[in-house]
Amino acid sequence: QIAKGSHGGDKHVADSFVYAFDIDGVLVRGGKPIPEAIEAMRVLDGDNEYNIVVPHIFLTNGGGKTEEERCRDLSRQLGREIKTGQFICGHTPMREMAERYKTVLVVGGEGEKCRHVAEGYGFKDVVTPGDIIKHNEAVAPFRKLTAEEYANSRRRSFSRDVIDAIFVFADSRDWASDIQIMVDLAMSQGGRIGTLSTTFDEGPPIYFSHNDVVWSAAHEQVRLGMGALRRMFEVIFSDLTGGKGKARIHAFGKPQVSTFEFASRLMSDWRTTEHGLVGSLKTVYFVGDTPESDIRGTNAVNEASDDDWYSILVKTGVYQEGNTPTYEPRVTVDTVLDAVKHGIKREM
Ligand code: G3P
Ligand code: MG
Repeated sequence: QIAKGSHGGDKHVADSFVYAFDIDGVLVRGGKPIPEAIEAMRVLDGDNEYNIVVPHIFLTNGGGKTEEERCRDLSRQLGREIKTGQFICGHTPMREMAERYKTVLVVGGEGEKCRHVAEGYGFKDVVTPGDIIKHNEAVAPFRKLTAEEYANSRRRSFSRDVIDAIFVFADSRDWASDIQIMVDLAMSQGGRIGTLSTTFDEGPPIYFSHNDVVWSAAHEQVRLGMGALRRMFEVIFSDLTGGKGKARIHAFGKPQVSTFEFASRLMSDWRTTEHGLVGSLKTVYFVGDTPESDIRGTNAVNEASDDDWYSILVKTGVYQEGNTPTYEPRVTVDTVLDAVKHGIKREM
């Protein structure tokens, strides 16, 4: 019992179920809140006929900023405080790789932001495509660094450096030069800049923070995402190596089951620290707009774990009314507000 509910009586915290939300296409679109999202958050805070407060977390494939900055953005968009303890973005699990690799290339995002995110995760030596272009502008004939980019990019000789791994943290802002540099490294002798392998199977591993080919932004049609960059990289690498090359490619984010398991651990900590709850859960409701990531992943973790993960598809993003979803949700509803009401009603 934590407070008086707006429907009379005391508010209670739900101890048997939680919600996890995708962000783009569910709560936000093109940087603006989807109107029903604000009301959905109020319902979760106990403004419902049962006076029940529902613990919840956020799990987005997006990224490009620190978790703190992303939470500040989301707090502003939804008009309420979102804390880092309830938030996972596409690159959050990359934090666990910081000890494994010494020198890493970080691709994507605005300016120096992703370098700072990677350094904040504990990566020791972070190189950006800008550093490589500053060293040798012939790498990308049509890419001219702006004065600010030139000043921020770090000067180094690269003569003895080996890029141990490539991490695509966020969407590329210059696909041509980023793909060029990724292909150069994938075709190099063990990640040495400026070298060319004869076998094309010794490049550094490449980690993408997610695989989404498209996502839901401000435009009425879906927009190309990081998965499209990956496909372009793969096709070009294969063409250039005559199909003989081998690139070691991994993806984090949804629909990977490991990402949902990571979310499960965060959820359990959040329930305890924020709501003082311990003990097992009955159901995790996951609300998403992309069948290939959100619904596929939720259904897969439901199969793989003892918890009941319940997939809810909304119609405000990638999935559109009239299409057949490539992965079948437990239920399809119009908006995130309907998704929240659906689960609460089912539980009460
Ligand atoms: O770049 C972000 C996008 O691919 C998906 O974000 O919140 O729908 O997982 P989200
Ligand atoms: Mg989405």
